[in-house]
Amino acid sequence: MSTVKKIGVLTGGGDAPGLNAVIRAVVKSAHNSGISVVGLEDSFDGLVHPGKSRRLTPEDVTGILRRGGTILGTVNRGDPFVEMVTTSQGTFNYADRAIEMFHETGIDALVCIGGDGTLAIANEFFKRGIPLVCVPKTIDNDIVITNSCFGFDTAVSFATDAIDRLHTTAESHRRIMVVEVMGRYAGWIAVHAGVAGGADVILMPEIPFDLKKVAECIRNRDAWGARSSIVVVAEGAQPKGGRVSLVEESSEGHVERLGGIGMSVAADLEQLTGKETRYVVLGHLQRGGAPTAFDRTLATRFGGKAVELILDGPFGVMVANRPPDLVSVPLGEVVGRIKTVPPDLDLVRTARALNVSFGD
Ligand code: F6P
Repeated sequence: MSTVKKIGVLTGGGDAPGLNAVIRAVVKSAHNSGISVVGLEDSFDGLVHPGKSRRLTPEDVTGILRRGGTILGTVNRGDPFVEMVTTSQGTFNYADRAIEMFHETGIDALVCIGGDGTLAIANEFFKRGIPLVCVPKTIDNDIVITNSCFGFDTAVSFATDAIDRLHTTAESHRRIMVVEVMGRYAGWIAVHAGVAGGADVILMPEIPFDLKKVAECIRNRDAWGARSSIVVVAEGAQPKGGRVSLVEESSEGHVERLGGIGMSVAADLEQLTGKETRYVVLGHLQRGGAPTAFDRTLATRFGGKAVELILDGPFGVMVANRPPDLVSVPLGEVVGRIKTVPPDLDLVRTARALNVSFGD
């Protein structure tokens, strides 16, 4: 019989469509198991700052299943184990204060919903004695062990729709259209949206590219009369022997920000092919809006499973999708690793068989 009577739920890192569906599932299933839920705002800030937490009842989460973003807010920066924080009661080491406040508030356990950064932070808090369960979230699909994460399907659907739209304008003007998608150091969004959108070229971090090969592919297409070409480029893609393109270097508490590769690929392809080329950066549009049915379902299952684990243990784990089941994996097996696209993935092989160029 579980002794847990009150849990805290928080969302950390970049938002992803489906976060609210997890919160809703956690609140409703916890309530039905006799557990009350405290919503912690802006990730662990909700523990540290009195006033940044609130009781969440089933009524509070009615209607949020289909809403993008997170009703709790989130932050995507900082290392709580080195940062200091000032509250009305003084200045403290952030993590020490979070742990102290966790015990003061009478919360028995946490559900932490987040990506690799949040999972790593949660693991450290777990090692320091906070009972918790994590739910993985990312549009990038780069968390290891879990087959999928909510947010990814929505991002791919959005990017596919954008590519569909670009086909028609590209054809009208006989242009090359370059579409930059997110994904950090993994090409999951690029390869899935590229294939679903019928792209002619897909450039991704796992397969460094040579633009001369891309230009050759486009010339071959011109030779048989193609009116246009669509190039999908992942923000983390890099040329052979080159490096990733950044809009901001990393700094204390901030990871580097990727971006800019779409613009440079478009400029270079225009030079190499002599064809008019335009580029589009899909950016945060991929993170916004309502989650797809797949993401709502997965997020709801993750939330329900997190509460099951809170009730039955173990703590210090992440929920993972291992079809047909949801399982739990120790956080230590997840943090510090990323899941990239295997260059011989069947989807990549099939795309190649359909004349898609990966620029290699
Ligand atoms: O990890 C999700 C993601 O959207 C990445 O694809 C992207 O590189 C990054 O977050 C952008 O982060 P920010 O919201 O801090 O600009």
